[in-house]
Amino acid sequence: MTNELDKKKRADAKAPILDAIKHRWSPRAFADVAIEEERLDAIFEAARWAASSYNEQPWRFGVARKREEEAFARALDSLVEFNRQWAASADTLVVTFAKKTFSHNDKPNRHAWHDVGAATAHLMLQARDLGVYSHAMAGFDAAKAEAAFGASDEYEAVAVLALGYLGDPDELPDDLAKQERAARTRKPLAELFFKMDR
Ligand SMILES: Cc1cc2nc3c(=O)[nH]c(=O)nc-3n(C[C@H](O)[C@H](O)[C@H](O)COP(=O)(O)O)c2cc1C
Repeated sequence: MTNELDKKKRADAKAPILDAIKHRWSPRAFADVAIEEERLDAIFEAARWAASSYNEQPWRFGVARKREEEAFARALDSLVEFNRQWAASADTLVVTFAKKTFSHNDKPNRHAWHDVGAATAHLMLQARDLGVYSHAMAGFDAAKAEAAFGASDEYEAVAVLALGYLGDPDELPDDLAKQERAARTRKPLAELFFKMDR
């Protein structure tokens, strides 16, 4: 089942691309299996090596493992109801944070969220390469997530990531199971470019 689903979810790429990019997709059904510490370390190590404006590395992570029941419950509680219903099956919830100002001059870093996104992409692709799946969420209460991890005013919560091994789509409510089995789609490449007026 898992392999068949992976096949269906594979990016229908029109040019040769990296395997991890081709095979990454966002599941909502996760298995009740813990991610090994070394794998989790490698996943965050990949995030650490992302590029960033002035090499500020504005990304920070709040990590809640399922076995740490209280922390996990608090991270889960920051999610909107729709996300909470499926993200409860994840093994690990990660809140991503952005440091809002540059450390060298205290000026606003208007690329902080860009760089957190880049680090998140590294994280997700490294995870997939290790067989770990990820699903990003914007549907959460930032104030709750910031309070849960004691983030000061210097930081703001950007997103929450659900991480884990692939689960059984049959365990999802019908509408979500249908989405879990649907092929992934993207805009055509030609739609992504602006043309200069000449
Ligand atoms: C920043 C961000 C926020 C997202 N928020 C949610 C969310 O709140 N709930 C959800 O179910 N999926 C969420 N998604 C998942 C997207 O819907 C998904 O990535 C998109 O449909 C493409 O599918 P794919 O990741 O399988 O290629 C989010 C993704 C990103 C990158």
